[in-house]
Amino acid sequence: MRILVTGAAGFIGSHTVEALLKAGAGDVAAVDDLSSGRRANLDPRARFYQADIRDKSAIAVLFEREKPEVLIHLAAQMDVRRSVAEPTLDCEINLIGLLVLLEAGRRHGLRRVIFASSGGAIYGHQLAFPCDEDHPCRPVSPYGVAKLASEAYLYFYRAQYGIEYAALRYANVYGPRQDPHGEAGVVAIFCERLLTGADAVIFGGGEQTRDYVFVKDVAGANVAALERAATGAFNIGTGVETSVNQLYRMLAEIGGIERAPLRGPARPGEQRRSSISFERATSALGWRPLVALRDGLAQTFKYYQSISANGPAGGAPATPPGSGSHNRSGGRHRSNR
Ligand SMILES: NC(=O)c1ccc[n+]([C@@H]2O[C@H](COP(=O)([O-])OP(=O)(O)OC[C@H]3O[C@@H](n4cnc5c(N)ncnc54)[C@H](O)[C@@H]3O)[C@@H](O)[C@H]2O)c1
Repeated sequence: MRILVTGAAGFIGSHTVEALLKAGAGDVAAVDDLSSGRRANLDPRARFYQADIRDKSAIAVLFEREKPEVLIHLAAQMDVRRSVAEPTLDCEINLIGLLVLLEAGRRHGLRRVIFASSGGAIYGHQLAFPCDEDHPCRPVSPYGVAKLASEAYLYFYRAQYGIEYAALRYANVYGPRQDPHGEAGVVAIFCERLLTGADAVIFGGGEQTRDYVFVKDVAGANVAALERAATGAFNIGTGVETSVNQLYRMLAEIGGIERAPLRGPARPGEQRRSSISFERATSALGWRPLVALRDGLAQTFKYYQSISANGPAGGAPATPPGSGSHNRSGGRHRSNR
């Protein structure tokens, strides 16, 4: 099977390429513009194209050459706060980029798309916990709107051109290689702050909850979706809510570090709780999360420990965090992608 992975040099993309190669799933080509991804993240067995998914001619050449049967689409403008500040840019990358790929795909025999949707951003303020895929989708950021509209475009391309799709609505993904300096998840930020001795800040009491899913489980979901014919939206999470306070305590315990976090004011509009049910993914894709939070956190902490000791090994940059980065742990839009 010929597979094209976009955003392949990023956090989830690089783990997905590894999982595909490990599963012997097929012939893997990879595209990334390296705007935030790193070439060193990517397994060299994947054929790499450096291109922007908005670049119609580069993407046309790529599809003509590779003729992928399956597209795993992970490339995105990931910064939720930036999507609020620059909705047109977000739309260009996250929606126009998808359309450029789908238009090239329909001309070159694309059969199936696995799309990185968001179980955090697409539902907006949740009414049920954990929620299933039939929960109303009322995104409260342009990033979430683009994910929802992407799913609608995928529906259209299936109806019009018979291209099947699985929109995987990932919960909050964490694990090795997440960039703690960019638009990172709270786990990467806490790990780095605990390891460097910098203060972590928890906003608004820290009882806000998220559903944390390990990156290798997410990569496994991408492979599972490739192997099954199921179409539609599937939550990829654990169904478990963990508070920011619990998360910090677990990481501090894993690291054997006794340091209390700083406390900041609540962020207006921040989602209080989030967790998503994975039952549909189990019945349709045969997928369930396998890595318990404590084990995943321990693996993640160990990874950041090794790069802080040895410098970046195909992972996060070694430069110290910017002075403003402490506020990412509880930011209004940042903590739930
Ligand atoms: N990390 C999470 O918690 C989470 C949760 C839900 C959904 N997602 C989705 O999963 C996907 C992957 O996220 P990630 O956490 O690995 O982020 P990431 O930033 O590590 O990966 C995104 C990759 O896309 C590349 N990219 C960005 N714009 C591009 C463009 N115009 N052309 C080509 N490449 C481009 C970047 O260089 C990067 O390597 C995204 O679609 C994201 O919206 C992530």
